[in-house]
Amino acid sequence: MTDKLIIFDTTLRDGEQSPGAAMTREKKLRIARQLEKLGVDVIEAGFAAASPGDFEAVKAVAEIIKDSTVCSLARASENDVRRAGEAIRPAKSGRIHTFIATSPIHMQHKLRMNEDQVVERAVQAVKWAREYTDDVEFSAEDAVRSDMDFLVRVFDAVIRAGAKTLNVPDTVGYSIPAGWGERIRELIARVPNSDKVIWSTHCHNDLGLAVANSLSAVMNGARQVECTINGLGERAGNASLEEVVMAVKTRRDVFNLGTRIDTTQIVPTSKLVSSITGYPVQPNKAIVGANAFAHESGIHQDGVLKHRETYEIMSAEDVGWNANKLTLGKLSGRNALRQRFDALHIEFASEEAFNAAFQRFKELADLKSEIFDEDLQALVSDENFIEPKEHYRLVALRAHSETGSLPVARVVISIGDEPHEAEKSGGGPVDATFKAIEKIVHSGTELQLYSVNNITSGTDAQGEVTVRLAKGGRIVNGQGADTDIVVASAKAYLNALNKLHDNLQRAHPQV
Ligand code: KIV
Ligand code: ZN
Repeated sequence: MTDKLIIFDTTLRDGEQSPGAAMTREKKLRIARQLEKLGVDVIEAGFAAASPGDFEAVKAVAEIIKDSTVCSLARASENDVRRAGEAIRPAKSGRIHTFIATSPIHMQHKLRMNEDQVVERAVQAVKWAREYTDDVEFSAEDAVRSDMDFLVRVFDAVIRAGAKTLNVPDTVGYSIPAGWGERIRELIARVPNSDKVIWSTHCHNDLGLAVANSLSAVMNGARQVECTINGLGERAGNASLEEVVMAVKTRRDVFNLGTRIDTTQIVPTSKLVSSITGYPVQPNKAIVGANAFAHESGIHQDGVLKHRETYEIMSAEDVGWNANKLTLGKLSGRNALRQRFDALHIEFASEEAFNAAFQRFKELADLKSEIFDEDLQALVSDENFIEPKEHYRLVALRAHSETGSLPVARVVISIGDEPHEAEKSGGGPVDATFKAIEKIVHSGTELQLYSVNNITSGTDAQGEVTVRLAKGGRIVNGQGADTDIVVASAKAYLNALNKLHDNLQRAHPQV
């Protein structure tokens, strides 16, 4: 008989802890809807106590999601747990995930608590959480460096307090697959009533072993894996959902486990998360990288053409490549566009916002004969159609580059409602454009990353630019898309400045 593996997605929480990946409520809603379509069992929608905005985002996800459990993270404090409880209250199925560190290094230096105090607090947090829901998960942060006898004691105590899922995190990505599996096996063997709860694992990728460690945990009894789309997450990231799911599916002979995941939604979800967070997917990334199913060598191509399975263990279609349907073109009207946006769950702030999107769509269709879903996603990601309160907006841009002469850019941007204009030269048209924007804005930011990716294929494809800016300890990613990559770059730069301008302050759960 096939057992079930619970897929707990934490893209909207741990994934959001990646530098610059913080998401607004609207962006979280778009990803949450796609995660529901993908079929994840649990969506960790955020850390409700982090800020009023985070609370609202978790609550909004709880209000709309019906086919997945919606979860909020909470430190083991009364305020955090109660905020999480209030945020998930509207959910059809809601979970509170509370945690406290259990390793000597964390207890001594971070919490300044002894073992008895940690156990007492963990038990209390689970009891507070049970006032809101029966579905309570407890995590022993930094379990990888925790003493085994102490872990057994904590887990025993929280089961008795009412926790239903026990999560064993490798918070710092320190474990090695065999040892991690052994740790899970020993916990299940030693903790009383371990058969009454679900054992879960949550692995970070500091040594590139997050997926391997998660799978080893599964082979030793874990029945929930916490993971993220594209492996996004704190530092080197979390175990990647697509890799875990496809490993379990492709090697059913080894795992004998089923998931609820509709694997054909994997690539569309990966693309959406990448475009919203500004984290491009490396081309050689398993499953969702652009080269994951590309066969370069002649021998391989010949083999695949004769019999696909000579070199492919999964099919591209099965994970949602080629789901990239041609959707619209130059002659498509307002209704067709509206229907497509509805299907993509993209809602507009107002009728004017939709009109502006339609106008932009027509301009794009003039430049690019075929418009795909990814183009529509990008079209709304860099414009203020959905969240119409951008402070800086690109009005006009002219960039000139010619062999043998210094590139020059002239930009017009509006700040509030007032237009400002500047001209600068630079090492290239993008550099000149950024310098011209800075001549107006004087942001004092540090440019940490600049990257360009094509959204669909072909030289008429839109380029999607990510710009990461840092200022005063805050890091933001800005995105912009356009068939002209200099324009896309200017939009991305202004998008990042707008995020800094919003100045959202939030607490980090693990600090
Ligand atoms: O990595 C970690 O330990 C976490 C916990 C909050 C589960 O993210
Ligand atoms: Zn984590």
